[in-house]
Amino acid sequence: MSENSRPKGTPRFPEGPAPDPAGSRFERRIRSFQPRRSRVTTAQGDALRRLWPQWGLDIDGKEVLDLGKLFGDADTGPDETPRPVVLEIGFGMGEATAQMAAADPDTGILAVDVHTPGMGNLLGLAERNGLSNIRVANGDAIILLREMLAPECLDGVRVYFPDPWPKARHHKRRLIQPEFLTLLAPCLKPGAVLHCATDWEPYAEHMLEVLSAHPDFENTQEDGGYAPRPDFRPLTRFEGQGLNKGHVVHDLLFRRAATLAERPDEGPATPTDREDPPRP
Ligand SMILES: C[S@@+](CC[C@H](N)C(=O)[O-])C[C@H]1O[C@@H](n2cnc3c(N)ncnc32)[C@H](O)[C@@H]1O
Repeated sequence: MSENSRPKGTPRFPEGPAPDPAGSRFERRIRSFQPRRSRVTTAQGDALRRLWPQWGLDIDGKEVLDLGKLFGDADTGPDETPRPVVLEIGFGMGEATAQMAAADPDTGILAVDVHTPGMGNLLGLAERNGLSNIRVANGDAIILLREMLAPECLDGVRVYFPDPWPKARHHKRRLIQPEFLTLLAPCLKPGAVLHCATDWEPYAEHMLEVLSAHPDFENTQEDGGYAPRPDFRPLTRFEGQGLNKGHVVHDLLFRRAATLAERPDEGPATPTDREDPPRP
């Protein structure tokens, strides 16, 4: 059925990503993304219909994910460790995601975005390139981190060219904020790296400031500055657009600290930090 002949009120992709998976089940929150209604091409729609049931998941905040199962490692033997999983927040059209998945087939990539054409595009790329190590998550990464990821389940996080929100009144919508880092840190394994990149100089400065100040993260660079671009990060679509405008790109690589700072409301953050209960 074409987009135009779809009766009003019926879902665009009945077997595909839900329009607003977390719905109103969570309080109104500041969103780091802009709702965009862009056209889904025939190929993207076809990929969504066929591949979503197998490789897609809605971020509905209803359950904690078993990443081993999600990536098909359920039969891992007692001596084998499940494959590492890296979260990519905001994959856009997914070209760079597919390239990184092809270059490192033993690592699972959990790729999250809210952009429906991009989800279709990435699913199509995964199928065409025979990539079985990508799962596409539809919805707000904040709900994913807060409600659906187990402690210390991630081996890394990539945030490449997040929306820069250049106007001062929109700065609060930037993803990289102290609150985001506090939410993210417990989901990362100790030593796992958060890799950010941006072509927007003021956002790069903001990232460096909040990451350097956060007690749960340590800069991998001894001089406390930006990192050289790692070989494994391909050129992304937004990066190409930024470079065409003469922007300078900065990479930031921060590792999660061995122990987490105490959360004021919750007491010690990791079970290993907790004191034994008093003896009766
Ligand atoms: C500027 S684009 C960059 C896309 C891609 N990384 C690139 O470099 O070409 C930022 C992307 O992040 C997504 N995004 C922003 N906030 C998000 C959130 N909270 N959860 C999921 N995706 C988000 C947007 O939908 C958008 O596709």
